[in-house]
Amino acid sequence: MSDEPLVLGIETSCDETGVGIVRGQTLLVDTVASSVEEHARFGGVVPEVASRAHLEAMVPTIDRACREAGVSLRDLDAISVTSGPGLAGALLVGVASAKALALALGKPIYGVNHLASHVAVDIVEHGPLPEPTMAMLVSGGHSSLLLVPDVTNDVRSLGATMDDAAGEAFDKVARVLGLPFPGGPHVDRAAREGNRLAIDFPRGLTTGRDLERHRFDFSFSGLKTAVARWVELRQRAGESVPVADVAASFQEAVVDVLTRKALLACKEHDVEHLLIGGGVAANSRLRALAEERCAKAGVTLRVPRPGLCTDNGAMVAALGAQMVAKGREPSDLGLPTDSSMPVTLVRA
Ligand code: KG4
Ligand code: ZN
Repeated sequence: MSDEPLVLGIETSCDETGVGIVRGQTLLVDTVASSVEEHARFGGVVPEVASRAHLEAMVPTIDRACREAGVSLRDLDAISVTSGPGLAGALLVGVASAKALALALGKPIYGVNHLASHVAVDIVEHGPLPEPTMAMLVSGGHSSLLLVPDVTNDVRSLGATMDDAAGEAFDKVARVLGLPFPGGPHVDRAAREGNRLAIDFPRGLTTGRDLERHRFDFSFSGLKTAVARWVELRQRAGESVPVADVAASFQEAVVDVLTRKALLACKEHDVEHLLIGGGVAANSRLRALAEERCAKAGVTLRVPRPGLCTDNGAMVAALGAQMVAKGREPSDLGLPTDSSMPVTLVRA
């Protein structure tokens, strides 16, 4: 038997019921039940529908994870769970389940930050995190730039979105272009056939006083409005909309801003490692441009595989295992959920 900590992680902050099991830095299993299809016809995640789906999926997902990993609940050293940020009702299902397990098994519980988990997951893919690491998290719910000296207790926010998250902008632009929800992968696909230089869409907070005041913040709502207006003008003039060109030009504006600011942060904070996580990290153009710009700047790029970039339980287990390995104190069994948990609070 290994003496590395065996940790089960539970993630329910949005529409994915994720249960992962990690031993030390090794991923044993990552089970995800998603309710995304139940939300598709609403064009976005409906919190009550998500909570109900978590309730239904929780026990079968835990059972499946243990079975596939060949692990018995009694073997666990700790339970780790997302305590925030996220949808309040959805978080409650995960935290209540984790507390029940911890109490019944007599094991410690770690209520951890969802964003720090997105960073920690790369440990099971690419090994120990260099300290410090710069992390850019881009998903449907968040866009943040984080300076991470120690993922178990020192995560600093350098900037975040002022309005729409990056993935949200992809989803909204997809809707304008008549593409299905969630829109990111569809825009990515359409963009491959388009010309990214066709339309010069705005790059928010990248020049002059905006950049000075919001050096590492993002804003995508002006871009989204610019795309909608551009499409509307074409339609009103009775002209057809070149979907591939609009998708490619919009996508270029997003990934240009993201990679520019991430590398500026690396340079100004003297950090040589950049990690990109969250659902938008699956974007093919973001990956390509980040690789190109990192290589030029002498920065090492780390991007977990797509299945570990989107919300999952393995990331929560990975952070929990780090907490145990570093001897961090567990949470109190009365730990709360916190839908707006600050990123600087790694453990509740
Ligand atoms: O991390 P995630 O699964 O869930 C959270 O929002 O936390 O991220 C989902 C987001 C959606 O907005 C989706 O459109 C976007 O990630 N996304 C993409 C791609 N794949 C997923 N955006 C751009 N390009 C992609 N290939
Ligand atoms: Zn997430």
